[in-house]
Amino acid sequence: MLDAGRTQETLLEVNNIEVIYNHVILVLKGVSLTVPKGGITALLGGNGAGKTTTLKAISNLLRSERGEVTKGTIHYRGERVQDLSPSDLVKKGVIQVMEGRHCFEHLTVEENLMTGAYTRTDGKAAIAADLEMVYTYFPRLKERRKSQAGYTSGGEQQMTAIGRALMSRPETVLLDEPSMGLAPQLVEQIFEIVKSVNENEGVTFLLAEQNTNVALRYAHYGYILESGRIVMDGPAADLRENPDVKEFYLGMSDTGRKSFRDVRSYRRRKRWLS
Ligand SMILES: Nc1ncnc2c1ncn2[C@@H]1O[C@H](COP(=O)(O)OP(=O)(O)O)[C@@H](O)[C@H]1O
Ligand SMILES: [Mg+2]
Repeated sequence: MLDAGRTQETLLEVNNIEVIYNHVILVLKGVSLTVPKGGITALLGGNGAGKTTTLKAISNLLRSERGEVTKGTIHYRGERVQDLSPSDLVKKGVIQVMEGRHCFEHLTVEENLMTGAYTRTDGKAAIAADLEMVYTYFPRLKERRKSQAGYTSGGEQQMTAIGRALMSRPETVLLDEPSMGLAPQLVEQIFEIVKSVNENEGVTFLLAEQNTNVALRYAHYGYILESGRIVMDGPAADLRENPDVKEFYLGMSDTGRKSFRDVRSYRRRKRWLS
C-alpha cells in the first residue's frame, strides 16, 4: 500500500556523497537519501550534523562556500545534476529556501515574491496567477505586500522566502530549517502551509529540521543525520514511535540529549557483557 501523498517515482537520489570544505574539512561521510515525488521527506539532526551541507550539495550552492562534493553522485529524475549551476537546477524544478529566511530587505514583500519568477518564460498572466496562488496560502503576505521585507516579522520573512520559491513553479523545494527562531505557534502555521502546498499543488519537499518533533508530524519519511552520516531512516510514523528517537530526539526522557551513536555502541557493549 502506498503512503498518503507518496508515489513510487523517485525524483532525487543522493548516493553516498562526501563533502569537504576548504580541501580538508570532511563534513559529509557518505550520505545517501531518496526523495520520492509528491512526498515530504525530512532530514533531521542536531546543529552541525550536516543538514545544510547536504541541501547545498544538492542545489549546487557549495562552491561559493569553498565546499566540494568529492565522492558519490546526485541524480534528479535520473539525470546527473552535480555540475549544473543553481539556476539551471531551478529550471529543472529544484529550488532551495535557505536557512535564516533570506529576503531582499530593501524590496517589498511583493517584489521579493516576484524575484522568484525570474527564470520563468511562461508570461505575465501565469506569473500573476501564481502570485495570487501564493497569497491564498499566505494571506498574511497579501496584507503585508507593500511593506519593506526588512521591516516584517521573522515569520513573515520565512513566509516570503517560501512564497518566493513557489513563484518559480518548483517541482521540488529544498527547505532549510523553516522553524528556526520562530515561536511554536508560528512554526505550526508554517508547517500547515507546507502540508497544504504539498497536498494541493503536488510540490515535493526535502525538509531539513532540528525540530524533530514537528518535522516528523508533517513528513512522510525521515532520515536522521549525525556527524555527517545517516544513522537511521524510516517512515515518519515509525520514527515517531522508535524508542531511541523518542529518547534522543523527541525529548521524552529525562536523561538529556545524547548522541544516537553513543547509545548504540553502549547497547552493543552491554550485549557483549551480558
Ligand atoms: N563553509 C564552511 N566551511 C567549513 N566548515 C563548514 C562550512 N559550513 C559548514 N561547516 C561545518 O560543517 C558541519 C555541518 O554544518 P551544517 O551543514 O551547517 O550543519 P547543520 O545544517 O546540520 O547545522 C559543521 O561542523 C560546520 O561547522
Ligand atoms: Mg543548517
